[in-house]
Amino acid sequence: MKYDYDPIPLDYPAAPDSGEMLARAQDYVDQISRRRSVRHFSEKSVPREVIEACLQAAGSAPSGANHQPWHFACVSDPDIKRKIRIAAEEEERAFYGGRAGDQWLDDLHGLGTDAQKPFIETAPWLIAIFAERYGFDDSGEKQKNYYVPESVGIATGLLINALHHIGLATLTHTPNPMAFLSKILGRPKNERPMMLLVVGHPAADAMVPRAATVKKPLEQIASFFE
Ligand SMILES: Cc1cc2nc3c(=O)[nH]c(=O)nc-3n(C[C@H](O)[C@H](O)[C@H](O)COP(=O)(O)O)c2cc1C
Repeated sequence: MKYDYDPIPLDYPAAPDSGEMLARAQDYVDQISRRRSVRHFSEKSVPREVIEACLQAAGSAPSGANHQPWHFACVSDPDIKRKIRIAAEEEERAFYGGRAGDQWLDDLHGLGTDAQKPFIETAPWLIAIFAERYGFDDSGEKQKNYYVPESVGIATGLLINALHHIGLATLTHTPNPMAFLSKILGRPKNERPMMLLVVGHPAADAMVPRAATVKKPLEQIASFFE
C-alpha cells in the first residue's frame, strides 16, 4: 500500500458538554465492566452476518502505518471445531501437566481452568486471530509490518468489545503453543497464530471465577501529571 497524503475533513460527531461526557463514560464503564471471559457456552447459533459486522469494527482499528496486520479465521464447521479442540486439548494436557511450571499454574489456580476445553465445540463460532509478521504489497513484494502485536491486540480488543456490546460472550483462549491453528486452517507462513476467540451465547447456568472480577483500582493503574 502506498499513499500520497490526501487530507479530508475529520468525520466525528460533535462532543457533548463535559457533564454529559462523564455520564456517558460512566455508562460505558458499567457496560464494559460486566464483560467476563466465559467458559460455558450455549449451542445457540449466531448468524455469520453478526460476526462479520463485529469483524468490521475490529478491522477499523489503528495499526502501525495502517498496514492492518491481522487475519481473522472464523470457524463454525463442527468438524474443524472438533479438530481444533483435539489439538488444543493435547497441548493443554502437556501445559497443565507441568510444562507451564509451578508459578504459572499457581497463578491460574483461582480461575478454575484445566486441560478440558469442551466450549471449543459447544460455542457456535471460533475466531482464530493471526498476526501478519510481514505482508505483501500490490506487486507481491514482501512488505514490512510495524508494531504487529500492538496492532493485533488493539483490533482484538475492539472485536471483544463489539461482541460484548451486542450481548455475546467471548473467551480469549491461548492454547500453548498454537501452531496447530495454522495447519488446520491452512494459514500462510507469514502469519503467526495469536489467539483463539471463542464466541457465542453464554450457557444459561454459566459460572465465572470470582477472582476474575477483581480489578486493580484506578490509583494502581494510572498516574496523572497535571
Ligand atoms: C492474552 C490472553 C490469553 C488468555 N488465555 C486464556 C486461556 O488460554 N484460557 C482461559 O481459560 N482464559 C484465558 N484468558 C482469559 C483470562 O484468564 C481472563 O481474561 C482473566 O482471568 C480475567 O477475567 P475476565 O476476562 O473475565 O476479566 C486469556 C486472556 C488474555 C488477555
